[in-house]
Amino acid sequence: MTLPHPTTSIGQTEEKRIVIKLTDVWKSFGKLDVLQGMSFEVEAGQTYVIMGGSGVGKSVTLKHIIGLLKPDRGGVLVDGQHVPNLDKQELMALRRKTGYLFQSGALVSWLTVFENVALPLREHGHLTEGEIRERVLERIHLVELEHAADQLPASISGGMKKRAGLARTLVTQPEIVLYDEPNAGLDPIMSETINRLILSVQDRYRVTSVVVTHKIACAYTTGDVLALIDKGKVVAQGTPNEMQRSTHPLVRRFLGGID
Ligand SMILES: Nc1ncnc2c1ncn2[C@@H]1O[C@H](COP(=O)(O)OP(=O)(O)OP(=O)(O)O)[C@@H](O)[C@H]1O
Ligand SMILES: [Mg+2]
Repeated sequence: MTLPHPTTSIGQTEEKRIVIKLTDVWKSFGKLDVLQGMSFEVEAGQTYVIMGGSGVGKSVTLKHIIGLLKPDRGGVLVDGQHVPNLDKQELMALRRKTGYLFQSGALVSWLTVFENVALPLREHGHLTEGEIRERVLERIHLVELEHAADQLPASISGGMKKRAGLARTLVTQPEIVLYDEPNAGLDPIMSETINRLILSVQDRYRVTSVVVTHKIACAYTTGDVLALIDKGKVVAQGTPNEMQRSTHPLVRRFLGGID
């Protein structure tokens, strides 16, 4: 993998810089209260892992960070800017520097795996066809999908779709990456490969990431800070070590293998 230019100087990353900050975010859909005082912050270069039961608002939280959903109230700051206040151009700039791995994979059904991965480069970039090809093949190689580059999404497995989505998320070398269940539906070996990939992206590019996962191995491997959300807010958070020692019943249920 070729190394891109670091987005911040070493001097800047040494001091604590908050890249993502949610402050008392509330969001309802009709009568359904989903986010109920969601607050957390992610420092530059950190990986913040969100765990929690199905339907507690994990994906909804990620969608607020990229401006796909607007809070009813509360602050959603990315690089110091309140996302709901961004105009169209500023929102596009935010999305250019942010990779979002959708839970569903969200591949375009009529494009091959190669063309799906190339899509963000064609939309945003000014790269030549040769440069696009080089970057796309490099990412496809990272997720071990060389053999499927010319296939359509309908003819590949769920896990392969997930990996294609991951290749597409990383193809623009984003500064911020939001992963929604990066290894759901993958076998243990591929799951481990993806965990290592997330880790190496974090190390090499110093990206700031939020990872939503149900997999304990993914949380422990990739996370600097682990958070557990319930009823629309963070109920416990800490380093992997702190969480391992936590006596909070929900933390024990998620991380302790009880249940
Ligand atoms: N656009 C929407 N309109 C209406 N309801 C929504 C919308 N998006 C999410 N919801 C509802 O909000 C709740 C939280 O959804 P969310 O997708 O964040 O869950 P989740 O924590 O990611 O769960 P899972 O682990 O199953 O992916 C769910 O009840 C869902 O049906
Ligand atoms: Mg979800």
